[in-house]
Amino acid sequence: VTTKVALTVNGQQRQLEVDTRTTLLDALREHLRLTGTKKGCDQGQCGACTVIVDGRRINSCLTLAVMHQGAQVTTIEGLGTPDKLHPMQAAFVKHDGYQCGYCTPGQICSAVSVLDEIRKGIPSHVTDDLTSAPLLTEAEIRERMSGNICRCGAYSNILDAIVEVSG
Ligand code: FES
Repeated sequence: VTTKVALTVNGQQRQLEVDTRTTLLDALREHLRLTGTKKGCDQGQCGACTVIVDGRRINSCLTLAVMHQGAQVTTIEGLGTPDKLHPMQAAFVKHDGYQCGYCTPGQICSAVSVLDEIRKGIPSHVTDDLTSAPLLTEAEIRERMSGNICRCGAYSNILDAIVEVSG
């Protein structure tokens, strides 16, 4: 069964006709050809498919496109351009926050959301009282980024990049 879905993706209105079983990840990659968002495990375990939907990061492999009628979706393609990188992209470049690069789009979408979560006062398992906590500790960043796996092990450089932008 196919159905129509209207999404705003990276600021552009997009109309899709998708099978009702199509994940948001496949809709982005296969229907909109936005292949910056990666498919790693396709089971919600690696974070490679992380995108920002209505201001919250999600694993796009775990949700159906039809569940996001009218939503605002931001993918890695919407964060910056080759000429004008998003500050988080620039920090990842500066600190070599990647090796093969496959997890990088998801890492960056997550990292951008982490800083937004801090601004909004959304608690984590490490800190449940952000009003008395230091702005953003390394432990806090590690906890909040724990859903994004890097098989190359670039974690310390990823951390350095996020710390720089959070400062
Ligand atoms: Fe979605 Fe791994 S591809 S979490």
